[in-house]
Formats: sequence, C-alpha cells, structure tokens
Amino acid sequence: MGSVKATTGNIRKAAAVIRAGGVVAFPTETVYGLGADGLNPAACARVFEIKGRPHFDPLILHESSAARAMKLFSKVPPGAKRLAARFWPGPLTLVLPKAAAVPGIATSGLPTVAVRVPSNPTALALIRAAGRPVAAPSANCFGALSPTTAAHVKKQLGGKPDMILDGGKTSIGVESTIITFEGGRPVLLRPGGLALEEIEKVAGAVAHARRDGKAPQAPGCLAKHYAPKARLKIIPAGAAVKPSARAAYLAFSKRPAGKWAAVKVLSPSGSLREAAAGLFACLHTFEKKGVRVIYAERVPAQGLGRAIMDRLKRASAK
Ligand code: TXA
Ligand code: MG
Repeated sequence: MGSVKATTGNIRKAAAVIRAGGVVAFPTETVYGLGADGLNPAACARVFEIKGRPHFDPLILHESSAARAMKLFSKVPPGAKRLAARFWPGPLTLVLPKAAAVPGIATSGLPTVAVRVPSNPTALALIRAAGRPVAAPSANCFGALSPTTAAHVKKQLGGKPDMILDGGKTSIGVESTIITFEGGRPVLLRPGGLALEEIEKVAGAVAHARRDGKAPQAPGCLAKHYAPKARLKIIPAGAAVKPSARAAYLAFSKRPAGKWAAVKVLSPSGSLREAAAGLFACLHTFEKKGVRVIYAERVPAQGLGRAIMDRLKRASAK
C-alpha cells in the first residue's frame, strides 16, 4: 500500500495494526522507523524479515515517556537517569540491562536493551495509542541509506510494511546518539542527533566504544553501512577535485566550481545541524540520478558533525 498522512485517525489505525502484530513505518525526529509491538516476538521477527536485517543486530524499543521507558531496564545507573531526565523525549538511545519482560528477539539475545523516547508528535501519539513499547529500527533495507521521508521508505520497502505513516521530512535527519554505561561511566556506541558535548555536560566524559572486544559495541554499527549505491569518496572541503559530469559533489557550505552530474550544498551558512538534517536526502537524490561516484566534503568533527562524519565514513567503506 502507499503511504497515508499522519492524521489522528490514521495514527489510531496504525496503533491498531501494531497491537494486532503488524508492522508500521512512522516518522521520528531522527529518521523513519519500522515499528512493531516490542513485546511480541512474532511481530519483531517480521521487522527483521522486512529489513533483511541479520538477527544478531538488535532493535530499539521506543516508549512514550521516560517513566515508561525506565520499566524496560532492570538497572539504571545515576548518570543514565540524569541523561533520560534531561534529553527525553529526544534523539538519545540508552543501552542498559534489560527487564525480564523484554523478549530476546528484540535484543538479539543480549542481556541489554536499547530504548529511546522520540520527540516527534506522530511517533509519540502512535506509541501512546499502541499502549506498549514499539520496536523500531530505521525503516530502510539493511545497510542502505536511512529514510528521512515517507517516499524514501516506500522506495526501499515498497508494500512490505502494513502501513506507512507520512509525517513529512524528519527534523534532525540522522539517527539517535547511542550511549551505554560501563562501571557507571557513559560509553558512546554511535554518534547521532544529540551532540556529544551536550551529553558530557550532564554525564561527564564519554568514552568511545572500541572494536577490540574489550569495550561494548553496537552490533549493527558495521564498518560499511548507510551506503548509497555509488562509490563515496571523502575529500577535504574545497579540495581541487577535477569536475566530472558523471560524478556528484556533496559540499558542506560552498558550491564547487565546474560541471558535475549533481551538486548539493548541505548548509550555505555552515550549520552542522542543518547539514545533518539534509544529509540522507542529498544522498538519496544522488542515488536516484544513478551517479557512480560521490565526492563528499569533510565537515568539522564537533556537534552534529561527528554523526555526519560517522555516516560518511561508513558510506565510503569498501
Ligand atoms: O534514531 C534512531 O535511533 C532510529 C529511530 C527510528 O529511532 N532508529 C535506529 O535504529 O537507528 P537502528 O536499528 O537502525 O539502529 C539501532 C542500533 C543498531 O546499530 C544496533 O546494533 C544498536 O542500535 N543496538 C540495539 N540494541 C543494542 C544493544 N543491546 N547493545 C548494543 N547496541 C544495540
Ligand atoms: Mg539503521
């Protein structure tokens, strides 16, 4: 089926679909999610199937309030409580020991669960009406570009979800920042829509997940991810790259000279927030044009620039 506008009536219908074990794509403030009843193992299994997602890669449970979200954890360190109080609803996901009620399929058998309270009004209304945690990964095919519009969802998943709620373009445009705790201290699993600087003001210095197996990691944060079909090459801003009518150019703030197949400027004013909001939409546009190479300029690795560079690096991985 096509997508439907996120009206009160359609949100109510979507909630009924979720309660009945169905799968609904819906907007959040970060990217679109592919949602199902997080306490229903068969419904969660359908989400994995529709995305083509490997079963080792756990889902995020979405709740409608911090109080309800906390019930999905069995242990919450003080730093995590402070983060939840300050940043929920918002683009922050906490990974903590799971409560017994959370089914193993949602966490891929891990003893921890990822939870967040989104701030998008459609998402909140849907979760509230469903009356249960909604398990939702990004509504894309596994490894492909994340969707920031209902059209992006439709292009990748077609008629597989039972319903697609169209709530317009997502405001933040990159996925949530994922934080876990080790010995009471915060560890970054994925940079995202909430700047690390903001998190550190509330929870102190944040350690970075390592790939040596000694520190926790997000199983889904693979080296190659968020990838367009074209080859993506990261270049310094303003680098002298030879223009090509077969390549696309993703600039941070200044339009490059020369003739390109397509050019997008993420933020003429140099705002990292604006750049993050438009990142995936620009890559989707390039993909639609069928370009073979995308040159993407580096952005400053601060604030939301960290999330942008993370996505560009994964998109450029071989
Ligand atoms: O903004 C977002 O977070 C969006 C919207 C829809 O809320 N969701 C999203 O979900 O990005 P997804 O599934 O594409 O990414 C979730 C990430 C994956 O990399 C997964 O491996 C990690 O979270 N994750 C989930 N549960 C985990 C756990 N228990 N321990 C470590 N990582 C976990
Ligand atoms: Mg994803």
